[in-house]
Amino acid sequence: MNREIPTEIERVLLDETAIQARVRQLAARISADYADIDDLVLVGVLKGAFIFLSDLARNLTIPHEVDFIALSSYNKGVVSSGAVRLIMDTRSSVTGRNVLIVEDILDTGYTLDYLIRTFQARNPASLRTCVFVSKPERHQVDLSIDYLGFETPDEWLVGYGLDYADRFRTLPYIGVLKQAVYA
Ligand code: IMP
Ligand code: MG
Repeated sequence: MNREIPTEIERVLLDETAIQARVRQLAARISADYADIDDLVLVGVLKGAFIFLSDLARNLTIPHEVDFIALSSYNKGVVSSGAVRLIMDTRSSVTGRNVLIVEDILDTGYTLDYLIRTFQARNPASLRTCVFVSKPERHQVDLSIDYLGFETPDEWLVGYGLDYADRFRTLPYIGVLKQAVYA
């Protein structure tokens, strides 16, 4: 495997060891919190959350179902198009079930806000959020995250599921994209 850092990456912000340690901690907390609860369904937000969700789910010690939803709020680059679009809904119904939304990153918060409102309207038994990275300086909506991996500065991040124009998602670390790439 080619492990060279691509030239578009300015620096590595979170390396693989730090990421994996944090994922194990989150999974342990979730496993403890849901120990007495059945019918947990993890809803991963495509595409960005697919790597985080797969690591998180494999570290859970409790039964769970994995489902996905696909949304779009960004066109190709780094500027939000504002409106959130539902591209693909979950396969299973979430009504009466314990839903944990798994998202890659909280930027403005519009996406997660949309998701929370959408799922709440479906009357789940419970609804919580698990977000890998949050950029507090960018938040436009006041949201509470139940399980958070890391807080990061306001920079464009790639790797561990995060992309720039669909590239860099499968890097095992989170890196900061050079501004020259998107400026
Ligand atoms: P929000 O609706 O502004 O919170 O944006 C959430 C979505 O924007 C995430 O699910 C990502 O797909 C994308 N996004 C926001 N910031 C970044 C970033 O730094 N790198 C990659 N994707 C990002
Ligand atoms: Mg996303």
